[in-house]
Amino acid sequence: QDITQEAFTGALPGDARVDSLIAAAHARYRDHGEGVVADYIPILSEADPAWFGISLAGADGVMHSVGDTEITFSIQSISKAFVFALACDARGHEYVHERIGVNNTGLAFNSVVAIELNDGSPMNPMVNAGAIATTALLPGATPEERWERVRSGLSRFAGRELGVDEEVYRSESETNHRNRAIAGLLQSYGRLEGDPLETVDIYTRQCAIAVTASDLAVMGATLAAGGVHPVTGERVVSAGAARDTLAVLAGCGMYERSGEWLFEIGIPAKSGVSGGIVAVVPGKGALGLFSPPLDSAGTSIRSQRACAYLSRALGLNLF
Ligand code: DON
Repeated sequence: QDITQEAFTGALPGDARVDSLIAAAHARYRDHGEGVVADYIPILSEADPAWFGISLAGADGVMHSVGDTEITFSIQSISKAFVFALACDARGHEYVHERIGVNNTGLAFNSVVAIELNDGSPMNPMVNAGAIATTALLPGATPEERWERVRSGLSRFAGRELGVDEEVYRSESETNHRNRAIAGLLQSYGRLEGDPLETVDIYTRQCAIAVTASDLAVMGATLAAGGVHPVTGERVVSAGAARDTLAVLAGCGMYERSGEWLFEIGIPAKSGVSGGIVAVVPGKGALGLFSPPLDSAGTSIRSQRACAYLSRALGLNLF
């Protein structure tokens, strides 16, 4: 109740006010102790639970950052949003709609039963099944070419060359039996293009791309600005692909909690198990947040609290 609700003006408040509100969000949740750091990918359990960073990038490229916004971490599921944007750009609205789908599963991000309950459909690009199927849609004659499309595409969103955290890639490759099973199941239904294990390998590498909270904010701001990078000025994806991506983020980005997220926070967003969140406000900009301890759906607790606070304080709620 002590958060002032700004009017929705179509622009962010002035710079000094944004800085002070981001600092207030950081101070408010910094000492929050709930949540558990992910350990089903063994190397992730080594993250420091105290890490916490918040960045905001305006659709005009102006940045505001507080806390651990330059620590790198693996992007994990947040990659799904940007790879989907690349797939929409390459294959078009109708094709991705038909091949992947855009409806929420109501189940966990790594659900196998969701595929079975829906006649083999990968359902949406934000859960593991749909994300693996989306990665398979990227054009390329070889797995190396498809991987380079992912890496260079996400780098264009960030406006800098991104690389892979090789330790995370190795750790997840050794333990991703469930994703391999999901890919095999999709193939059995004829819902996966190409070789399932090759595609899971590219998907695993895409999840291990190393980013900072500031990178996430800029990548999100590129979607907020209709696919044009706010600093480099490069068109990364078409305006239609950016719009399609934000629509799917709103409906599915926070998995089975997407409804609650929209109800409470009102901004399309995507989380990842390393503790990142990107939250994108169309036309205005994006928040990139990072803090490793997670809730039971695999979403960073400090990041989501800070997002809720800033949504209200900065007047970012779309509704
Ligand atoms: O495929 C996986 O399980 C991980 N590479 C990514 C999962 C993830 O980030 C879910 N997010 N909250």
